[in-house]
Amino acid sequence: MKRVGFLTSGGDCQALNAAMRGVVKSLVNSGEQIEMFGFFDGYKGLIYGNYRMLDISDFSGILTRGGTILGTSRVPFKTIKEPDENGLDKVESMKHWYYKLRLDCLVILGGNGTHKTANLLSEEGLNVVTLPKTIDNDLWGTDMTFGFQSAVDIATQTIDYIHTTADSHGRVFIVEIMGHKVGFLPLNAGMAGGADIILIPETPYDINKVVDAINLRKERGAKFTIIVVAEGAISKEDAKLSKKEYKEKLEGSKYPSVSYEIAAKIQKKTGKEVRVTVPGHIQRGGSPDSYDRVFASRLGAEAGALILKGEYGFMVGYKNREIVKVPLQDVAGKLKMLAPDAAIIKEAKMLGISFGD
Ligand code: F6P
Repeated sequence: MKRVGFLTSGGDCQALNAAMRGVVKSLVNSGEQIEMFGFFDGYKGLIYGNYRMLDISDFSGILTRGGTILGTSRVPFKTIKEPDENGLDKVESMKHWYYKLRLDCLVILGGNGTHKTANLLSEEGLNVVTLPKTIDNDLWGTDMTFGFQSAVDIATQTIDYIHTTADSHGRVFIVEIMGHKVGFLPLNAGMAGGADIILIPETPYDINKVVDAINLRKERGAKFTIIVVAEGAISKEDAKLSKKEYKEKLEGSKYPSVSYEIAAKIQKKTGKEVRVTVPGHIQRGGSPDSYDRVFASRLGAEAGALILKGEYGFMVGYKNREIVKVPLQDVAGKLKMLAPDAAIIKEAKMLGISFGD
C-alpha cells in the first residue's frame, strides 16, 4: 500500500493533468494498492489541509485537459519560512498534514519556485518526487519541461496570424512572447513563425541594430518586419543597471511592457507604423499538444516507478533524450538559460535572424 499526495504549484501550463494521470496509471497498473490525496491550489492546500481523497476516476479523461484539476497558486519561497498572518508556521504545517495523512510521499508538479520549496520539504525529511512543468523551459536539470512545446505551438500560431496582416499593411509588428527571464520560448516560437528579429533576455539588444535590421529588410524589398520580443528582453543600456535600478525603471515606465517601449523607439527612428501584439496567458491555455501529452505521460510513468521503488528526493527530468532522475538539491535555486553561443542561436543568425546585438 502506498499513500500518495499530489499538488500542482506555480503558474499552470498544459499537460499538468496528463503528468498526474501518468503517475497514477503507472502506480495502479503495477498492482500496488494506492490511496491518493489531492491538495488544492498548490502548497496552500498542504499548508491549510485543504485536500480530498482522489479516486482513479478523477484521472480519467484528463489526458487532453489543460490547466490543473487540483488548482494552483504561487506561494513564494522567500516567504515560506515566515509565519502567515495568523502566526502559522507554514513549513511545520505542511509537515503536520503529511504525517497526519500518513503519506508515503508527495508528488509535486512545478517550476523554479516550486522546486525550492519541494527541496526544503525533502530536506525536512518528507518523501518527495517532482515533475518539471513550465512553459518557460527554464528549469535546471532537464533539457525539457512539459507545457513548453504546447506554448511554442500557440505562440507560433500567433506569429503566423500576424504575418498576414503585417504583410497587407506593410507594418512592423512586435509579438511579445512569455518566457519570464529566459529566451527558449520566444526563440523557438520566433524561429517556427519566421520572425525576422528575435530579442531575448540572454542577449541584450541595441535599438540601432534592430533598426538596421528593419532597414535592411526594406532595402531587400520586404514590405513588413516581424519582431519577437521576449517579455524579459533588455537593452544593452538597461543591462548595465543594477537589479534595483532596473526594477525602479520598469515601475516608473509609462509603457505597459518592454515591447511598447521598443515599438515607440522604432517608430521614432524609422517613421514606420509599429503595432504590438501580446498573446499573454493564451500561451499557457488550452489542451496540451501531442508532444506534451506523450512527454508528460512518460515522466509521470517514471515518477510512478520511483515511488514504487521508494526512491525519493528526485525530479524526473529529461537529459540527452533519456528520462533521468535528478536530485532535488541540484535543481533548486538554479535557472537554466540559453547560452549566448548555443548552436540554435548560431543557426538562427545563419538564417538571417537578427538578435539586435
Ligand atoms: O512561468 C510561467 C509564466 O507564464 C511566465 O512565462 C510569465 O512570466 C509568468 O508565468 C506570468 O505569471 P502570472 O501567471 O503570475 O501572471
